[in-house]
Amino acid sequence: MIVKILENYMELSKIAASMVAGEIKRDDKLVLGLATGSTPEGMYAELIRKFKAGEVDFTDVTTFNLDEYASLAPDHPQSYHFFMNKHLFDHINIKPENINIPDGCSSDLDHECYEYDLRIEEAGGIGLQILGIGTNGHIGFNEPAEMLCVHTHLVDLSAETIKVNSRFFESFDQVPRKAVTMGMGTIMHAEKIVLLASGKSKAAAIRQTVSGGLTTAFPASLLQLHKNVTVLLDREAASLI
Ligand code: F6R
Repeated sequence: MIVKILENYMELSKIAASMVAGEIKRDDKLVLGLATGSTPEGMYAELIRKFKAGEVDFTDVTTFNLDEYASLAPDHPQSYHFFMNKHLFDHINIKPENINIPDGCSSDLDHECYEYDLRIEEAGGIGLQILGIGTNGHIGFNEPAEMLCVHTHLVDLSAETIKVNSRFFESFDQVPRKAVTMGMGTIMHAEKIVLLASGKSKAAAIRQTVSGGLTTAFPASLLQLHKNVTVLLDREAASLI
């Protein structure tokens, strides 16, 4: 694992965007794995800026998002479809047919999960995967558990995740209890991984990610087994390492 400590969130966002743009320069047909949540918002803003400045071209890029809430329609303001359009896709030249986000409203979610992994495989696997991290160590929505799933699957969100994510909803009751997420195998098969974390609330999780023992009770710890992970932190997220 390479750990880089940046001065602040803006620096972290700029470095993350430069890494993505650099990968696209190296391979214009990059298969890019994306995350939602507060952490990558700055990186997306910087990627939009770079696109408008002619510094990056998404024409042949394919994207796969990590996850989506079950039962939220794509036009629901808290769905990850909506988030991605608002924070990135509506502002760049990616082809709509190259965008992949799990369909949390599918009437056959098992089939949707199977199909999602198949599509990733057919695209040649993920070249670069962007990750955030939950305070409980989840990546994607692979929640702490006795056993972790390899493939894309339907997951019960943990009480902690529901509580943390309730900040985006009008009331606690509106937070979906289930989500579709890439599995640990899908994530670990990515060629390169960049994990972003910002703020004090992530400091303990980052310590466990970079130097804790491997355990399914803290899914991000398994990233220590991956051969090409870069962890980008601001000073606060790095404060306990
Ligand atoms: C989002 C995702 C989650 C988030 C994590 C951190 O697609 O997969 O693992 O990355 O919950 O969220 P924020 O960035 O809001 O703290």
